[in-house]
Amino acid sequence: MKVLLLLGLVAVALGDITRFEGEKVFRLKPVLDEHVTVIKDLAKSIEVDFWRPESPELLTIDIDVDIRVSAIYLDMLYTILQQSDMEHEVLIEDLQTAVEAQADSGPTPRTHSYTKYNSWDKIQSWIASVSSSNPNLISRQVIGNTYEGRPMNVLKLGKKSSSTKPAIFLDCGIHAREWISTAFCQWFVKEALSTYGSDSQMTSLLDQMDVFVLPVFNIDGYDYTHKSNRMWRKTRSRRSGSSCIGADPNRNFDAGWCSLGASSNPCSDTFCGYTPESEIEVKNVAEFIRRNKSIMKAYITIHSYSQLLLFPYSYTYELAADHSELLKVAEGASAALRSLYGTRYTSGPGAATIYPAAGGSDDWAYDLGVKYSYTFELRDTGRYGFLLPESQIKPTCEETMLAVKYIAAYVQKNL
Ligand code: ARG
Ligand code: ZN
Repeated sequence: MKVLLLLGLVAVALGDITRFEGEKVFRLKPVLDEHVTVIKDLAKSIEVDFWRPESPELLTIDIDVDIRVSAIYLDMLYTILQQSDMEHEVLIEDLQTAVEAQADSGPTPRTHSYTKYNSWDKIQSWIASVSSSNPNLISRQVIGNTYEGRPMNVLKLGKKSSSTKPAIFLDCGIHAREWISTAFCQWFVKEALSTYGSDSQMTSLLDQMDVFVLPVFNIDGYDYTHKSNRMWRKTRSRRSGSSCIGADPNRNFDAGWCSLGASSNPCSDTFCGYTPESEIEVKNVAEFIRRNKSIMKAYITIHSYSQLLLFPYSYTYELAADHSELLKVAEGASAALRSLYGTRYTSGPGAATIYPAAGGSDDWAYDLGVKYSYTFELRDTGRYGFLLPESQIKPTCEETMLAVKYIAAYVQKNL
């Protein structure tokens, strides 16, 4: 009886997972205005998941466009591509195969692993154990709950001190499907704890400053990508009057909110939300940073994919007051990153480097007064996209550490 009941539950849970058989990811190369129109029209008539840029509003000519299309629309897409004579390539032949190929580093263990993509349950118990492991170096606090009621823990890394120390805020997992991002915050915490006392830079950083780490910003969305739909991006908030779920947390900050590169359509993947900070996760983070504004010296947020190091502004083409310094630090950080495995990053202000997109956390933090405000877009450049294999977690995190430590060292020198 018990066994039967258990099997029943498992079957239901499995039945809920979205599968991606026959779906493909294409890279389109629009070089004419007409091509852009064709892609936009396509997005209106069939279901297209934009991987890069994240929505049809952000399309322009001469940028690569990565899209996911389900099997039933492939014939139609091929016809349209032929008719418009648009150059394209297939990045992922079969998405379900790619989803399954992510876990290329052996079977999934029952416990947390730094070289695996961990479920929220594993990350949650990891948060509890890692924060009680070294009370002199790490503590945690809950900054609020998510929409679905999960606690948002911020880990504070730094040598205990009686006086308040200047600080850096680091978050991962604003977007649910960007799993390598979430893996990085866990890696950062591990490295900080294990190299304090031996690595002179980490030791001096944690002696002088505190680093606040939010391991998973959009926990509800992240959990949903594990349990139901691997390709989910937004939060999971609901509103009566709309059947569409969630808003884009990185369009929901109060920075030129919903003016550019964001959608007011609740069904869009770049929906800006009903008001700035309508998403409780955004509000919790914004309030925490506002409360600690006087000590916050840097804000670093981790996304994927594209290999970019971006800084303000994204809501306008205007250059930030600190543009040349921000650029100089970004270039230094990219060079440090590249020194390990040769991975190339492009750095620059968001609007000019990729596309204008308002309501982002980086612009918001900068305008609040947190001068060193950076957005990382980690590996890769599209071969695997959001489905970066687990075998790349270690090298990606190692190289990213060098860039983050470069920024931290610069901030520390310029306190
Ligand atoms: N791909 C990221 C996003 O669309 C880039 C964020 C850059 N910053 C920004 N404020 N738009 O969210
Ligand atoms: Zn993102």
